[in-house]
Amino acid sequence: MTEETAEATIPKGMTSGKKGKGLEFHSLTSEGQTKLDRHLTGITEFDRVTGGGMVPGSALLIGGDPGIGKSTLLLQVVCRMALSGKRCLYISGEEAVDQVRLRADRLQMSHAPVELASATSVRDIIASMDGGTRPVDLMVIDSIQTMYVDNVESAPGTVTQVRASAQEIIRAAKKKNIIVLFVGHVTKEGQIAGPRVLEHMVDAVMYFEGDRGHSFRILRNVKNRFGATDEIGVFEMAEEGLVEVLNPSELFLAQRQDHIAGSAVLAGLEGTRPVLVEVQALVAPSPLGTPRRAVIGWDSNRLAMVLAVLEARCGLTLSGSDIFLNIAGGIRITEPAADLAVAAALISSQTGIPIPHDMVFFGEVGLAGEIRAVSQPDLRMKEAEKLGFTQAAYPKRPHRKGDTKTPSRHTSLKGKEITHLEDLVAWLTPARKAA
Ligand code: TYD
Ligand code: MG
Repeated sequence: MTEETAEATIPKGMTSGKKGKGLEFHSLTSEGQTKLDRHLTGITEFDRVTGGGMVPGSALLIGGDPGIGKSTLLLQVVCRMALSGKRCLYISGEEAVDQVRLRADRLQMSHAPVELASATSVRDIIASMDGGTRPVDLMVIDSIQTMYVDNVESAPGTVTQVRASAQEIIRAAKKKNIIVLFVGHVTKEGQIAGPRVLEHMVDAVMYFEGDRGHSFRILRNVKNRFGATDEIGVFEMAEEGLVEVLNPSELFLAQRQDHIAGSAVLAGLEGTRPVLVEVQALVAPSPLGTPRRAVIGWDSNRLAMVLAVLEARCGLTLSGSDIFLNIAGGIRITEPAADLAVAAALISSQTGIPIPHDMVFFGEVGLAGEIRAVSQPDLRMKEAEKLGFTQAAYPKRPHRKGDTKTPSRHTSLKGKEITHLEDLVAWLTPARKAA
């Protein structure tokens, strides 16, 4: 619990019973106004996540664990924007100007005409939105947890300060049509307010995630008033900054081994983009009374569900075994379409029979063991085909009213429709091998 002091001032007029003036209403058709004008950075992975460029006057929040690379990403973004002729300010409340310069050096971007400052006072920051010879286009605030407004008493980083600072900056920036990019550290302790307290105030929220042990990072969009959500951008942290990964599936599958039991490839979908990843399972006899269940990169509740369905509906015995599940490469998968690949990896590990190397899976498992359809099967298969896969196991397509002919098949993948998890078990178990 943190103490918050209530604002003493009650807006005038609210208590006086004074009448407001009527609103001016508009039609839904744009009145002479053309499409949204968007600013592209030229970093394809970033532009995709922003929904095709940043909209002037919008506020964006980039959250992530400390040290994951938020400052690096935003410095690269500002440098690109500055080089394309936009006026950009980079305000760091965490690092001295020299430190930011060092980073720019490392990124080989020192020549970009970015205006740097080290500051934490919101009043000063707002005052500097005006100065200069031309209007400001973009501003980075790194990080919002270091900023403070002087008429609020709590310390920087507290919920009250973070909220008040962001509100003031956003209000001022919107008036001047400036894009603001806020950095927000995700914090484990409640002492410092995390980015969540700002999510409702900004136009777009992105999280920069990744595993410290791996070099690649994923920028994931969770809210966007100007575009689709759930888009991802994939980067690799290299010596000279973040490098775009244009074909993430290739990267995620790069270290896959041939003929190993317990490995299945998921033809997944992240936002609008198909991504192939390897699901690894290990089923091992447990020496413990309560066997272990460890999951990396997936939801442990879903694993528990798939295991229960395999036991109750398909007759597999897994309750006495330790079970480990890993999404290779460090990416986090959230979509239910991964169920089928997880089940396949589990069955394969249990039986010791490898799954064909050139096969992908997608489909959701229901509690009765039925395999449910998921979105965009064609897109998933096309990506699999592009990467050299030749077979796919997927749910039966739902028959929709109006479907006259069989669904279009754009791929040459050999398909296997799976209607029940039992079919998959039967298909992957020794009997099949003998036959
Ligand atoms: P940083 O952007 O400072 O993280 P954040 O702002 O999210 O706290 O990134 C810090 C890490 O990135 C640091 O461990 C060093 C690494 N790094 C590189 O590997 N290559 C680079 O070119 C740069 C600038 C940083
Ligand atoms: Mg930083």
